[in-house]
Amino acid sequence: MSRRYLIAGNWKMNGSLSANAVLLSELSLQQDQYSGMDRLVCPPAPYLESVERQLGGGILLGAQNLSDQTKAGAFTGEVLGDMLVELGCRYVIVGHSERRALYGEDDATVARKFAAAQAAGLIPILCVGETLEERESGATEAVLGRQLGAVLAASGVGAFAKAVIAYEPVWAIGTGRTATTEQAQTTHAFLRGQLAAQDAKIANSTQLLYGGSVKADNAASLLSCDDVDGGLIGGASLKAAEFLAICAAAQALSKN
Ligand code: PGA
Repeated sequence: MSRRYLIAGNWKMNGSLSANAVLLSELSLQQDQYSGMDRLVCPPAPYLESVERQLGGGILLGAQNLSDQTKAGAFTGEVLGDMLVELGCRYVIVGHSERRALYGEDDATVARKFAAAQAAGLIPILCVGETLEERESGATEAVLGRQLGAVLAASGVGAFAKAVIAYEPVWAIGTGRTATTEQAQTTHAFLRGQLAAQDAKIANSTQLLYGGSVKADNAASLLSCDDVDGGLIGGASLKAAEFLAICAAAQALSKN
């Protein structure tokens, strides 16, 4: 596999200045052990600047959300993509299932945020995923096809040359329940196939992350699936030992 592994930590609404400093000092140890893969942390927006100062180059910075607007203006409480770039972000998560379920972000909003991220020069990590009910009723591919399709329709397949997709089954997020390797591989192959139907070269290069209760003890088997190119890690990204063990699993599988 020529695609590089990306292990991304989604801290969600967790952390404090002092807790972040401890976590980052532990994550920054032995940087050269992870040279064959990319590591990314996505802290809450207020901490981006201080986290960036502490990262020391070996770990990339991303945000968890951005405005769908592309120009500054009267949008109280929103964060413009350009501002994230100014603080050192390279990536931004868009369409996380918590944003979709708790903050009413629909496919059209997510597609606008994806486009706004790219307009600012950020690499969007587009999250897609089905609920348990949808999986059990056999609707997984229809749901994922719709979620990905909205972005493909708005931005075109070419946009995926500079984007990442994260498959996060909603039933696996924060539940301790993970997709089996077979479910992960089958679903990732489906997503790659959706891209390949429009552009085989882009499909082959786009990184597809798996997310949902990835931990040190299940990372290696999930990451060894042909179409899994990394992980979007929630709970386990807040514990340095867990996150580093997941990164070590990716590094061990890396062909670089
Ligand atoms: P989890 O979260 O690893 O805690 O399941 C993943 C995510 O929501 O990105």
